[in-house]
Amino acid sequence: MIDTKILKNITVLYAEDELIIQEGITETLNLFEINVICVKNGQEGLSVFKSSDKKIDLILTDIKMPKLDGIGMIEKIREIDKDIPIIITTAHQETSFLMDSIELNISAYVLKPIDIYKLEASLIKAIEAKVLREELIEKNKRLEIEIQKNEEKQQIIETQSRFAAMGEMINMIAHQWRQPLSSIGTASYNLKYKLLSGKFNLETQEGRVEQANFFTNKLDEIEFYVQNLTTTIDDFRNFFKTDKVFVNSTIENPIKNTLKIIQKDLQSNNIELILDFESQNKINIFENEITHVFINILKNAQDKFLDKEIKNAKIEIKTQDIENGVQIEIYDNGGGIAEDDLDIIFEPYFSTKKEKNGTGIGLYMSKVIVEKNHQGKIFAKNTKEGISFFIILYCMI
Ligand SMILES: Nc1ncnc2c1ncn2[C@@H]1O[C@H](COP(=O)(O)OP(=O)(O)OP(=O)(O)O)[C@@H](O)[C@H]1O
Ligand SMILES: [Mg+2]
Repeated sequence: MIDTKILKNITVLYAEDELIIQEGITETLNLFEINVICVKNGQEGLSVFKSSDKKIDLILTDIKMPKLDGIGMIEKIREIDKDIPIIITTAHQETSFLMDSIELNISAYVLKPIDIYKLEASLIKAIEAKVLREELIEKNKRLEIEIQKNEEKQQIIETQSRFAAMGEMINMIAHQWRQPLSSIGTASYNLKYKLLSGKFNLETQEGRVEQANFFTNKLDEIEFYVQNLTTTIDDFRNFFKTDKVFVNSTIENPIKNTLKIIQKDLQSNNIELILDFESQNKINIFENEITHVFINILKNAQDKFLDKEIKNAKIEIKTQDIENGVQIEIYDNGGGIAEDDLDIIFEPYFSTKKEKNGTGIGLYMSKVIVEKNHQGKIFAKNTKEGISFFIILYCMI
């Protein structure tokens, strides 16, 4: 026994010019508790379809009808609704229309005289397909909303990461500027002191030369330090430029950019840096993004050293070629991380530095950059005295 529950309360627009057939079929459809709107020809059918305030779920139509025939009506309806299920009732001698209706996405053809069981089965099949399609559309809509929400979330994280990076950069710039600024201060103080204290005997040629030499030396010194400040700013500004195009480069370039930015900080914290650059392969990268990844990893190592007050702190950066790519290993001897946490350090907002305002997005962004933007791989392993981060980038992506 077929389950006709799915037909209950649906609304069918039924076009048939032969009243006896129309009444008989309508009566049967009413038995399934289907609401039937009857029309006598295609033109009436079309105007009811356009103006009905009831949602029409299915169209059942004869072919040969006065004014506008079934095919004509379906063509017009398809311009408005390309999905509504349509069942055609047809007599044997009318089969030539089949060619015309091929493009019209018809759910079923039921031969006249109509076999009620066949009609019932066709109705159920067509409505089931409609329900499934509507569910799918609904699911897709929900999925799209989810995707959009995720994209928005991702954007927020990226902005946060940028701000966090800027904050760190400002700290590093301040740190790197301290020494040249204080040297400029000392040089200008010396200049002023010597000038005001009349140290040079300007009556003599020798005194005037001595003063000129002293001034030139001090001004050279100031110029040197100003140059130093400018270079620092350029390095940082370059880092903040958004990458628009891939560059074909060895991995050494972004590592060198990283070191320009962070090396002084590492040195002043007595962190030894061991570099072992073997890789020669050229890879396609967004250079600043990859620099960002290295900075995140090196900053994390430094945080760990400072937190644990590690004495012989060292970081090793090793690059080597692999088939069609490059592997970078960054090792630190800061003690590593709890084995349980290894899997989640790349999750957004996971941080063990909450009291120091760790955002927990450094490694997450690094993963996005390496795996999403470069189709590479990033992972971490605890080693004997610390942790190794591995990054794999490919030549062709
Ligand atoms: N070299 C490391 N040694 C030990 N643990 C590490 C190391 N690098 C990362 N971790 C762990 O991974 C966590 C997540 O790192 P991530 O860079 O994403 O955020 P964070 O450093 O905590 O915050 P932020 O980067 O904003 O300062 C850290 O809190 C730390 O627990
Ligand atoms: Mg970090």
